[in-house]
Amino acid sequence: MGVRFTGWGIGLPERIVTNDELSLTLETSDEWIAERTGIRERRIGGTTRSLGAEAARAAIADAGLTPADIDFILLATTTPDRMAPATAAMIQSDIGATCAALDINAACSGFMYGVRVAQGLIETGTRRVLLIGSEQLSGWVDWTDRRTAVLFGDGAGACVMEFSSVTNDLISSTLGCDGGAAEILSCHHNATFTMDGQEVFRRAVRAVVESSEDAMAKAGITADDIALMIPHQANVRIIQAMADRLSIPMERAVITLDRYGNTSASSIPLAFDIARKEGRIKPGEYALVTGFGAGMTWASSIIRWS
Ligand code: COA
Repeated sequence: MGVRFTGWGIGLPERIVTNDELSLTLETSDEWIAERTGIRERRIGGTTRSLGAEAARAAIADAGLTPADIDFILLATTTPDRMAPATAAMIQSDIGATCAALDINAACSGFMYGVRVAQGLIETGTRRVLLIGSEQLSGWVDWTDRRTAVLFGDGAGACVMEFSSVTNDLISSTLGCDGGAAEILSCHHNATFTMDGQEVFRRAVRAVVESSEDAMAKAGITADDIALMIPHQANVRIIQAMADRLSIPMERAVITLDRYGNTSASSIPLAFDIARKEGRIKPGEYALVTGFGAGMTWASSIIRWS
């Protein structure tokens, strides 16, 4: 008995912005960005609402359901379109659902926080949860600041999580937060993101390594059992450092930041989609899904596909 992931979908703007295009207006280069981050291009456009609705429709169809079948909508976002109402409410209306709808914000860890919240809802009687990660970070980036502008992109990903009486895909989870680190990555109202990149890097590696170890210990498995690692897509050097410390070969990591940049709460479901399309998600295998973000927050889960 437990939770099953039954459908996935994505929503991406059409417009691709390459590193070369950014270097026309910023003192930067494709070489610097690719070498220091692994990012080569990102998608820009749409709204948190429009991208989220596109991903939501695709996930519901992939699960073989209709919007009327959904009992709860959770939207993980750092960039809601408005203070009120919640962007989840507007997506509910756009897709033609009638259930409860709620935004959650744990920054880039938001989707994995959402997985845990959805599990709690399902364990207490909610049958089907639509979990969306959607971000329009381009609206909150200072396009004159090369230290942050090159990192982020827009996009959305969604999944349907359902109660199952026969199987359980979500084996263990660890969530954490250190609100004392709020100032190292922050965005005030009517402002843009500011970041102490090196401090975020240092803390991120420690947070994902420790929480991944904790999630594996709770699941009763070791790094050798991990067939696939789906990390938050912020910087390939963070993913490399994490893989090294956990002794998980880099070939097992899913990388999407080269084409999408850092899409915050959307990055993990977008990576799931790529992993699926590449045929890397296999029944019975363990995946480590792990992320970190502003807060600072972090979250790791062990998933075994049924
Ligand atoms: N292009 C060219 N040069 C740049 C640049 C850019 N886009 N951004 C910064 N630089 C410059 C800096 O100004 C600095 O120049 P200086 O030595 O003359 O002062 C130099 O490059 C080195 O900067 P530094 O900050 O030490 O680089 P770094 O190797 O730490 O890389 C990040 C910067 C942001 C890529 C890296 O710290 C990082 O990824 N941190 C984590 C950020 C993150 O994950 N955020 C999201 C969390 S969810």
